[in-house]
Amino acid sequence: MSAKNVRIEVMRAIESKVDSFIDSYLIPIEEIWQPTDFLPDNKSDKFLDDVTQLREEAKELGYDFWVTMVADTITEEALPTYESWLMDVEGIDQHGENKNGWSKWVRHWTAEENRHGDVLNKYLYLSGRVNMREVEITTQHLIADGFDIGTDRDPYKNFIYTSFQELATNISHKRVGQMAKKKGNLLLGKMCTIIAGDEMRHHLAYREFVKTIFEHDPSQMMLAFADMMKKKIVMPAHFLRESGGSIGTAFENFSNCAQRLGVYTAQDYVEILKKLNAYWELDNIRSLSDDAEKARDYLMKLPARLERISERMKFPEDQYHFKWVEANGTL
Ligand SMILES: [Fe+2]
Ligand SMILES: [Fe+2]
Repeated sequence: MSAKNVRIEVMRAIESKVDSFIDSYLIPIEEIWQPTDFLPDNKSDKFLDDVTQLREEAKELGYDFWVTMVADTITEEALPTYESWLMDVEGIDQHGENKNGWSKWVRHWTAEENRHGDVLNKYLYLSGRVNMREVEITTQHLIADGFDIGTDRDPYKNFIYTSFQELATNISHKRVGQMAKKKGNLLLGKMCTIIAGDEMRHHLAYREFVKTIFEHDPSQMMLAFADMMKKKIVMPAHFLRESGGSIGTAFENFSNCAQRLGVYTAQDYVEILKKLNAYWELDNIRSLSDDAEKARDYLMKLPARLERISERMKFPEDQYHFKWVEANGTL
């Protein structure tokens, strides 16, 4: 059987567990938080006062902070790209007889994720610290540009990507929340922390999918993991551009910003890899083919190698001026 057909078989074999994954890792719609829970109540007489307070608190936050918030928001707002990408993965089917539990997972995951861009966008709008029109243009560009994360339609590679990426977003939202709290922006702090909580649950789900696949098809899963790490896990917003700019040009400036601020760093990348290696117990996986043994060896040594590289990395200290954020005097 071809590797592709084996993947479809494995996806089918795990499919019966998808409902229990949804129960364990997602929260019922009627119970989960909604963006309105973290924003000033627009039915209240205090609404305008609350907005004034939110805007005053926002003045305490500096340039790099806002750039990071904007890029995080735009990344979340590009959710249509992620949903359509996942729906197209081999073994995930939303049509006809083959319509399966995996498409239900993708829809439910999307429904949770959709709240992130929603709440962040409303907050940014109310804060008055950023140029919303520029943010909106970048969002439209990013959705129009799509992304290419190097996974193809392979479920194994896609689940490696999502396992990694959900933890990366957990880290960055968590750190942004901590910074906001430190500067007295309690509402924003809570908002980012609760988003980080969602990202963590999603990470736990995707790493479980991979663990289950390792039980069914260890060699191919190992090879897919190594292939993704060789290509490097690119960020979902790697095609980010500003108005008038060409594809991807804003991304590097944003990641320098996130690195400078300590919101998401090269060291975090290494830590995520270490956690994944440990959770999937790479060292205990049996009956690997020769090339999968080599792939394991590569993956086990990779964190130390990347650590050495990250120690030598240098990032520009100069602030690039984005169209999204006017210089607000609080650097
Ligand atoms: Fe998210
Ligand atoms: Fe996420």
